[in-house]
Amino acid sequence: MSDIEHLRSLIKDIPDFPRKGIIFHDIFPIFKEPTATEMFVSHIVNHINVTIKKKVDVIVGLDARGFLFGPMVALRLNAAFVPSRKKGKLPGKTISADFKKEYGVDTFEMQADAIKPGQNVIIVDDLIATGGTAAAAGQLVEQSGGKILEYIFMIELTDLNGRKNLAAPVYSLITFN
Ligand code: PRP
Ligand code: MG
Repeated sequence: MSDIEHLRSLIKDIPDFPRKGIIFHDIFPIFKEPTATEMFVSHIVNHINVTIKKKVDVIVGLDARGFLFGPMVALRLNAAFVPSRKKGKLPGKTISADFKKEYGVDTFEMQADAIKPGQNVIIVDDLIATGGTAAAAGQLVEQSGGKILEYIFMIELTDLNGRKNLAAPVYSLITFN
């Protein structure tokens, strides 16, 4: 079994959560196993080292599950970790971008001085569906003058084609229709 097949086998699909008709892909079983977590983080770091020929300055992790592994990847790359946080949680001067969720609008914030102009950034989150969440984080990076090298997701829901809403390359480890 390949690393990716093993990681996929650990993801638990839970029907009708958080609502009827939605299948929730639960990634927490991976984090319960240190060897699987190591496999997952190493896969991402290896992917970056092989395909991205530039120094990565910043990993941006998206609230909330991008916070689980963004710092682990950043540490391995000797890069900074910067959170994109749901509104009202970050102190000091912040910049913000709205995004559409199924019901209503949500807002991401980032500390205004977190990314310096010209820095190379990779944005990570657990899952891409419509791409709205990741696109808002991308706007924050661009407002800061950062350059988005890639978006990396643990899971991509391919039927929704959310990657079409993102203006940088997308890499996902595991896909679901
Ligand atoms: C989920 C997931 C992604 C987002 C993807 O987050 O973790 O961040 O949805 O959806 P999109 O591509 O259609 O924008 P959720 O909004 O459930 O919040 P959470 O991460 O704080 O649990
Ligand atoms: Mg999320």
